Amino acid sequence: MAYERKEISIEKIREQEAVCAEIRKLICVGEKPPLAMVDTYGCQQNEADSEKIRGYLAEMGCGFTQDEFEADIIVVNTCAVREHAEMRVLGNVGQLNHSKKAKPNQIVAVCGCMVQQEHMAEKIKRSYPVVDLVFGPHDLWHFPELLLRVLTKKKRVYATERCDGYVIEGMPQRRDGTVKAWLSIMYGCNNFCTYCIVPYVRGRERSRLPEEIVAEARELVAAGYKDITLLGQNVNSYGKDLDCEVDFADLIEMINEIEGEFLIRFMTSHPKDATEKLFKTMARCEKCAHQLHLPVQSGNNRVLDAMNRNYTAEKYLKKVEIARSYMPDLVITTDIIVGFPGETDEEFEDTVKLCDTVRYDAMFTFIYSKRVGTPAAKMPDAATREQKQVRFDKLLSAANKVSAEKHAEYEGKTVRVLVDGTTGKEEYNLSSRTNGGRLVHLHGDESLIGKFIDVKISSSNTWALYGEPVKE
Ligand code: 5AD
Ligand code: SF4
Repeated sequence: MAYERKEISIEKIREQEAVCAEIRKLICVGEKPPLAMVDTYGCQQNEADSEKIRGYLAEMGCGFTQDEFEADIIVVNTCAVREHAEMRVLGNVGQLNHSKKAKPNQIVAVCGCMVQQEHMAEKIKRSYPVVDLVFGPHDLWHFPELLLRVLTKKKRVYATERCDGYVIEGMPQRRDGTVKAWLSIMYGCNNFCTYCIVPYVRGRERSRLPEEIVAEARELVAAGYKDITLLGQNVNSYGKDLDCEVDFADLIEMINEIEGEFLIRFMTSHPKDATEKLFKTMARCEKCAHQLHLPVQSGNNRVLDAMNRNYTAEKYLKKVEIARSYMPDLVITTDIIVGFPGETDEEFEDTVKLCDTVRYDAMFTFIYSKRVGTPAAKMPDAATREQKQVRFDKLLSAANKVSAEKHAEYEGKTVRVLVDGTTGKEEYNLSSRTNGGRLVHLHGDESLIGKFIDVKISSSNTWALYGEPVKE
């Protein structure tokens, strides 16, 4: 069935802002403003969603805290990609009993991908009476209305509409940083990789209009942001659902034309849709970082097919080769799933071989986690947890060795970095990133935050580089 694009009109968002004003009257009664805590799990898309939740909360007159015992409103924004993240959320939500006991009027909301799964929403209803409000990603836009219902009706509210998702513009946002910003360019996913829950909880792929994205990028640059990450589950299929002719490479080009000194990054790229045009555009656009997160998931063709990834190891390697031919300095990172159902030791060795060939700058490795309702959950899975752990440990130590070697190649060199924050440490008090996204710790004045500077790298390890600013 064809996907029908649904938009939430700006009038509806304005109505939500009017509800924020109503809530403000109800909760801003004391001398001090009420405090909210937003706890975020999972990916950058969730970070971006939390900035919208904070935007609404700020309009309700809330200040912010990280202390659950201080908070009047707690919002836990959850992830469903792996069981481990869900267990952490449930553990932490259970712990909120203590803060609620001390503060009986405290409101606890749980939102995000985890509760968009019916069985998880049910579990919270049944076993977590501390939770007052549950809403999924499709219901975030009317969070104020849902919260008002909790406040006035004094009963628990659940909103986990099953739908393909909306495109929403104009929601208030309260961004976390001053140097780096997330910019969602599309939502949802159509790929249905057989292990993945995302298409079920975040709906179909839908792109924001290019003019809306460019306008937001322009605002970010004008506000002084220097590092803009374009977000989507698969940015390479940007625009396929729109009537206009703009694809992802064109979008990069449009943002690159905005005046000012800033970097464009993006994630995530699906290898099947990564084109030569994209690599050429990345190489040509001087503001586009030479950084590519290209999740391979496995190096074995049978496993890739069972995962429904739509490429082979050979095709993947060819794309890496083309990308590097345009950008010899390209930093490449990847995601890998170890122990997909049916993966044998021999098949796993193909993943090790592929990683040896590519030599990733960094790898994110995960042990397969069964997700209810996905096709892979029904596949026979003979390998034991211990066998999977052995594979995982082997891959991780190989990955760490390559990262350390790649980092060591920077020693003695001078690199341009963007200083983005403090580390809380004395010796290397500032953190920064190279154009390719490598982490560089350095010592310097805090006034350097938000500036592009040259740094001479003196030492390194698997995770980071260390250096000194070069005097100009
Ligand atoms: N089990 C383990 N890892 C998973 N990922 C997605 N689904 C699962 C799962 N069921 C990993 C993939 C993806 C990353 C965001 O999370 O590697 O690229
Ligand atoms: Fe999940 Fe695959 Fe979509 Fe990524 S591309 S979100 S792994 S279904």
